[in-house]
Amino acid sequence: MKVLVTGGAGYIGGVVAARLLEEGHEVTVLDDLSTGHRDAVPEGCAFIEGDIRHHAAEALAGGADAVLHFAAKSIVPESMAHPELYWGGNTGASLALLEAVRAAGVPRFVFSSTAAVYGEPEQVPITEDAPVRPTNPYGASKAAIDAALAEHARMHGLGAVSLRYFNVAGAHGSLGERHTTETHLIPIVLQVARGERDHVAVHGTDYPTPDGSCVRDYIHVTDLADAHLLALGACVPGRHRVYNLGNGAGFSVREVVEVCREVTGHPVPAVTGPRRPGDPAVLVAAADRAHTELGWRPRRSALRDIVADAWAFHSAPATGSAPGGAR
Ligand code: UFG
Repeated sequence: MKVLVTGGAGYIGGVVAARLLEEGHEVTVLDDLSTGHRDAVPEGCAFIEGDIRHHAAEALAGGADAVLHFAAKSIVPESMAHPELYWGGNTGASLALLEAVRAAGVPRFVFSSTAAVYGEPEQVPITEDAPVRPTNPYGASKAAIDAALAEHARMHGLGAVSLRYFNVAGAHGSLGERHTTETHLIPIVLQVARGERDHVAVHGTDYPTPDGSCVRDYIHVTDLADAHLLALGACVPGRHRVYNLGNGAGFSVREVVEVCREVTGHPVPAVTGPRRPGDPAVLVAAADRAHTELGWRPRRSALRDIVADAWAFHSAPATGSAPGGAR
């Protein structure tokens, strides 16, 4: 297929672009490099540097069989401080992209949605039928696009899939997570292990969880990428399907720190701090629908394997301008 990947210079978009190439698809990446890295775009992809609001039509001018839409802001605390960036950069930009998709007659659309749409769940593990009640603007900005996709499918015949990611971590070979300002738990803990930080702060120890810290469901980025390939084949004209992607196992912040200590052999000092605004206490997926309907089978589901792959990536020597290798 001829596929447009927005945000293909980012962590997850870059890994999915690499997997698409491996499977023989023709890939164009559209990315404004605001948070992504040019060298994370796998060799073999065409690349357009630009904002989706202004460059989507150009990127689709040669025709496309599908769009995979990753380009987004995805930091919960940033969204609490600057909701306008999320409504504009996520919801507004995605609506502009959908308009370009409709104008170009692209039949398939796979969207990076998030567990953050559920907010504080009534039942855990969370199924796709759980109420959508985000506790932060990030989740709200993505939930709005899930709703828009349902209508584009119903009214315009689009074949759409929303993939609701839980906490993505790990690395796909030389493609891993590297943000200029890191806020995610596992990369921060690994920075401590590398000696780049003194300690990790546990954000909140008074949640209604067994050890008081927040519980999340961690999923390997390669398993997540595999689900995108399956979703691409599962886009049916006129239908919008939603799939949770997680492993169904919850780990507290303290447990994650402990696994990182075991994997890295570093003591990783931890201090306790206040809650981070916008954080739900527990997010754990029921991903049965992805298993039965997409045939998705995660292969690196153990947290220890996820952390080990992230650690291998973070402790590899920097390789300057080599594709995907610089940091
Ligand atoms: N945390 C700490 N200390 C840190 C960093 C994080 O205690 O230094 C805690 C957070 O408060 C949270 C947990 O670790 O309880 C995980 O935080 P992350 O920032 O790693 O991830 P989030 O759960 O906030 O969000 C991630 C993605 C979202 C996605 C969500 C779904 O960034 O895109 O998972 O579960 F929506």
